Amino acid sequence: MAFKLKGKPKVYVTRLVPQPGIDILEKECELTFWKSDEAIPQEELLKNVRGVDGLFCMLTDQINKEVIEAAGPQLQVVATMSVGFEHIDVAECDKRNIVVANTPNVSTDSVAELTVALLLLTSRRLLEGVTAVKNGEWGAWKPMWLLGTEMTQRTVGILGLGRIGYGVARRLRPFGVRKILYHDVVSVSYASDVGAEFVTFEELIKESDFICICCNLTAQTRHKFNKDTFKKMKKSAILVNSGRGGVVHHDDLYEALVNGDIAAAGLDVTEPEPLPASHPLISLSNCIVLPHMGSNTWESRNSMSSTAAKNILAVFHKEKPMGEVHAK
Ligand code: DGY
Repeated sequence: MAFKLKGKPKVYVTRLVPQPGIDILEKECELTFWKSDEAIPQEELLKNVRGVDGLFCMLTDQINKEVIEAAGPQLQVVATMSVGFEHIDVAECDKRNIVVANTPNVSTDSVAELTVALLLLTSRRLLEGVTAVKNGEWGAWKPMWLLGTEMTQRTVGILGLGRIGYGVARRLRPFGVRKILYHDVVSVSYASDVGAEFVTFEELIKESDFICICCNLTAQTRHKFNKDTFKKMKKSAILVNSGRGGVVHHDDLYEALVNGDIAAAGLDVTEPEPLPASHPLISLSNCIVLPHMGSNTWESRNSMSSTAAKNILAVFHKEKPMGEVHAK
């Protein structure tokens, strides 16, 4: 379907992004970019969005009321190259009939793989092993050096059985885990495909040997893992977070790891991001922190870029984008 707009619609891209998205957009739009691999400063964003019809952004950009107003009333679509959309004032966009779209699905496998990798990295103490080798601390074989925990016959708890949580459960089944428990806002029919049982949050934290946080950050999940939660978990429990950093209270996590309330943690997401190298969690040998690498694969990032671009064009074509989101 041809554009109803006069001339080519203007789209601003807030970063250098993988080429597939650019190829899609440049055929039909007038594109301008923040030509850097670093996040655009907010004052530059405010200047550069003026007069655009579409905004291609990412999770480091604060798309607040000020930015939306700076863009002007012709703004039709804000497409983020991420699943998360907590950086966008969606309610404000809804009010102004600006479509907000994210990139669901396309990074599911990448994030689910990373979650399992982080779980193994943490439970088998692999980073401590690598560090010991690098530091020349690998001596003669010892029967009780760097012992970890097997997944076989353990209970895995998943907070958030959406696409990623489901992908994690599917990948963990062949490890011979005893049970997969999950908690979410509602129970889901597809849970039975991976033999996952719906439980209350209290049951999840009390019974699980490994807990994977795969949920979004919402008012309900913010700091869900705090001092009280850690006290109720098994002392041998391992916590992995590939959802959003804000689900975990990081000072409380530090205390829990130092006091032995839980055994170890693996974090791909933190609060804040980046977590400063001086943060106490980084000094702990029982805490592994990755720099938010869940979707860091060529496959994922190329698809995220092309999906965000297609979402923008869908709105210009008066079609429904793949990942339309609303405040409620
Ligand atoms: C997302 O898509 O929201 C991820 O966190 C980015 O890796």
